[in-house]
Amino acid sequence: MENTAIPREALWDVLRARHSVRRYTGRPIEPEKAAALQAEIDAIGRETGLDFRLVLDDPNVFRADRPHYGSFSGCRNFIVLYGPKGADEQVGYHGERLVLLAQYLGLNTCWCALTFEKTAIPVKPAEGHVLHDVVALGYGETQGVPHRSKPVTKLAPISPATPQWFERGMDAAMLAPTAINQQRFYIEQVGDRGARAKALIGPCSKTDLGIVKYHFELGAGRENFEWV
Ligand SMILES: Cc1cc2nc3c(=O)[nH]c(=O)nc-3n(C[C@H](O)[C@H](O)[C@H](O)COP(=O)(O)O)c2cc1C
Repeated sequence: MENTAIPREALWDVLRARHSVRRYTGRPIEPEKAAALQAEIDAIGRETGLDFRLVLDDPNVFRADRPHYGSFSGCRNFIVLYGPKGADEQVGYHGERLVLLAQYLGLNTCWCALTFEKTAIPVKPAEGHVLHDVVALGYGETQGVPHRSKPVTKLAPISPATPQWFERGMDAAMLAPTAINQQRFYIEQVGDRGARAKALIGPCSKTDLGIVKYHFELGAGRENFEWV
């Protein structure tokens, strides 16, 4: 699955610039940027059947008065990620397509599994779909900060023989957002052109796995390897 919306030469800047942002300015999302996101949402729907919804200018889902971790302010735009129960990895993979496209368009984002008002979501899932996550969207007060990453040797077996495609894949995977920055994943090289990724135990780690696999594919180049 190729994300055609981000030009290859912009990829690493986009991957490095993306950080979770929880405080937003009131600047509205321009109609052409909303249309680009909607076009990608429609493409994802056609390819996978996932039911993602872009919601603009709604102040009620992200409220600043939640006391626990990750409280948000000023967020009035978001993407609701509906899909079949158990589709966590697929939701992660395709949700991150939208997160990176938003970053490329100059917007900020934050994946959100918990710290939003579920009951205030103004749209309803189609039959057979459940709410997985919400992605907060808009112009941030700041661009956020890079997360601390585990060393690559804790996430993959790296040796002097590790090929460049695998190392680049890991560079991109380490830049991926994961719930509470847990990075509960492990990726191994299999043969000359194979890679195997697995989720370890942790909250949302299957969603994280989809996100991480999408990053790995972009970094490694899909033409260089296959998932096994
Ligand atoms: C599946 C998933 C769920 C998340 N849920 C929340 C959340 O409920 N609230 C929140 O403030 N941040 C949430 N985050 C954001 C993570 O805390 C953040 O991605 C992580 O700390 C790494 O930071 P970064 O995104 O800036 O690289 C979530 C991230 C992911 C991938």
